[in-house]
Amino acid sequence: MTNEDMREIVVEQQDGVMQICIQRPDKKNALTRAMYAGLTAALTEAEHDPAVRVAVLTGNGDSFTSGNDIADFLSAPPAGESSPVFQFLAALRQFGKPLIAAVNGVAIGIGVTLLLHCDLIYVRASAILQLPFVNLGLCPEAGSSLLLPRRIGHPRAAELLLLGEPFSAEQALDWGLINGIGADAGTTLELAMAKAQRLAQQPPAAVCLTKALLKRADAEATRETIALESRHFLERLDSPEVQSILRAFMERGRTRE
Ligand code: COA
Repeated sequence: MTNEDMREIVVEQQDGVMQICIQRPDKKNALTRAMYAGLTAALTEAEHDPAVRVAVLTGNGDSFTSGNDIADFLSAPPAGESSPVFQFLAALRQFGKPLIAAVNGVAIGIGVTLLLHCDLIYVRASAILQLPFVNLGLCPEAGSSLLLPRRIGHPRAAELLLLGEPFSAEQALDWGLINGIGADAGTTLELAMAKAQRLAQQPPAAVCLTKALLKRADAEATRETIALESRHFLERLDSPEVQSILRAFMERGRTRE
């Protein structure tokens, strides 16, 4: 990892658990290219270091992540498979050890779709989750057009993806999308860490084999869906419609100053 990647993606490791924390709270932990590279580096390190048995992904402040950095979408959009966001999605999809999410606050866009690749998910009670791809003129990514309906059924997935309405931790739990709710950010992380520590004590080969078996049925379809969605996503991103919606978001910030 370079210094820039490490500043906003902070990694700590103890007793077999690697904690990966997104730290850009003043921008609601929006993910830049450098941060995707940092996340990919952390996952790669976790994958290859035999001392790491489990990874926990969380955020700093009141947000898990507000999704892709919109300024980055405008100034340096992803161009293809080698772009940091797609490298991150590949690392996430292929991560062979258990990955636990502690969603400490708002989760938008990839902040929700990345959860579909996690093994256990704990969310703060007050967190708001949203998939506003269509609202922005974009389309689903990270395999969510396949994985979301498989998890929560087509009617609910269509509502979340087509209307892009926010939903709560409680709804996510009712729908079977997440494992549990924490009263606040600290409790949510504690829940996730307690499970991580228990998993780190389980026989590692059996844990990884079980994860792979759980994912097997969807693995190839997920890879194909990510590739297809990515192509459409990049085309949409380049369209005048999307450019003007994204510019309006950035202008909104300026007009408030
Ligand atoms: N990309 C770039 N900057 C972002 C961002 C994003 N995805 N999300 C938040 N920010 C920035 C804001 O521009 C603002 O910057 P400023 O202080 O320089 O003006 C700062 O983070 C705080 O955000 P703000 O909107 O003032 O906070 P809020 O509490 O009113 O709203 C959100 C929080 C997350 C609901 C809102 O920022 C939002 O909707 N963000 C965009 C989410 C999105 O569409 N993501 C892309 C999905 S593909």
